[in-house]
Amino acid sequence: MLKNLYSGVAGLALVASVAAAEDVEVLHWWTAGGEAAALNVLKDDLQGQGIGWVDMPVAGGGGEAAMTTLRARVTAGDAPTAVQMLGFDIKDWAAEDVLGNLNEVAEAEGWDKVVPEALQYFSKDDGNWIAAPVNVHSTNWVWISKSALDATGLDAPQSWEELIAVLDAMKANGITPLAHGGQAWQDATIFDAVVLSLGDDFYTASMIDLDPDALGGDTMVEAFERMAKLRSYVDDNFSGRDWNLASSMVINGEAGMQMMGDWAKGEFLRADMTPGEDFVCIRFPGTQGAVTFNSDQFVMFDVADGDAAQLAMAKAVMDPAFQSAFNVVKGSVPARTDVPNDAFDGCGKKGMADLAEAGSNGRLFGSMAHGHSVPASVKNAIYDVVTAHFNGEYDAATAAEELVNAVEFAQ
Ligand code: GAL
Repeated sequence: MLKNLYSGVAGLALVASVAAAEDVEVLHWWTAGGEAAALNVLKDDLQGQGIGWVDMPVAGGGGEAAMTTLRARVTAGDAPTAVQMLGFDIKDWAAEDVLGNLNEVAEAEGWDKVVPEALQYFSKDDGNWIAAPVNVHSTNWVWISKSALDATGLDAPQSWEELIAVLDAMKANGITPLAHGGQAWQDATIFDAVVLSLGDDFYTASMIDLDPDALGGDTMVEAFERMAKLRSYVDDNFSGRDWNLASSMVINGEAGMQMMGDWAKGEFLRADMTPGEDFVCIRFPGTQGAVTFNSDQFVMFDVADGDAAQLAMAKAVMDPAFQSAFNVVKGSVPARTDVPNDAFDGCGKKGMADLAEAGSNGRLFGSMAHGHSVPASVKNAIYDVVTAHFNGEYDAATAAEELVNAVEFAQ
């Protein structure tokens, strides 16, 4: 359904956990090198406008730990002023009636006209703006070491068969073909791409519509077989590894490629690597032209004395020049359609073009792994099955069966 909604395309002293009226306390999970660099762009921007920053980082890629901390804070009656949040989590919190209203600034700044509808679906509740989208990431990317690819004598893969040929050649060359971290959300990130590679209709039916026939059918068995095949190219020490450490394996030549959302580019850039020269970014083979997206949005909680600083932060986040500066560093692309691509590198320009193309062709889909296709309860049920299978607990046929059961139970 989401695909049809898209139209075109601190440095301050941390002295207390309670933010003063002119401060924003920001809960986020941007603690990896590239993420922190992007966060600094935001902190500096706000600081320049006199908005104080109280940092509330909760490490853990994909934000699961951050969401647990958030729940505890809100339950204790101590919500942070601004929170990094993904897709359906925003909708879940809106339903609890604890969020602030950003209409004043959204109307003054004309957000309705420049934010793609696929994002507005999550930024608005009942017609009211409740979140400011800072970026659009997408999950169906592969980041390949240029030297490791060159050493195979092969081109960047376009199809599943070509991908396997490149992975085999990297293995023969004595490196770990696939850098991966064994955490449920990372397994799920690859799963997004594998499911999409088996067809737009299949992704829609299984990951968005949760059709039991698609969740448990032959194509899903094939998806799990592909996951098992990919698992065979991962090194033995992958369990629990953070995603940015997997990126480092590609950066330092230990591994050939990583299948990860475009926040991985932030790590490559931080290591002074240049797209096209030191690394190659391609869409997961078989998903060219389609995009599984996720968007980080800042949600403002309804807190006493927060209003002015919250509105100022929301306005700053949506500023076109800021959206360019921030997303150039983060690896994502702007959350508004009117930001020029001049400052972006080759991968960023491709990301912007792909997003616009996928949007206008009905090929833009919310990422399951990153909270944009189904609510967290269902997402977590899918995570459990994908991870259990990836770790060898189920064969492909059993995993497909378990997926049907888990999704049914979670709804
Ligand atoms: C995603 C988020 C990105 C990045 C990534 C890894 O869910 O949208 O901004 O932070 O997790 O932490």
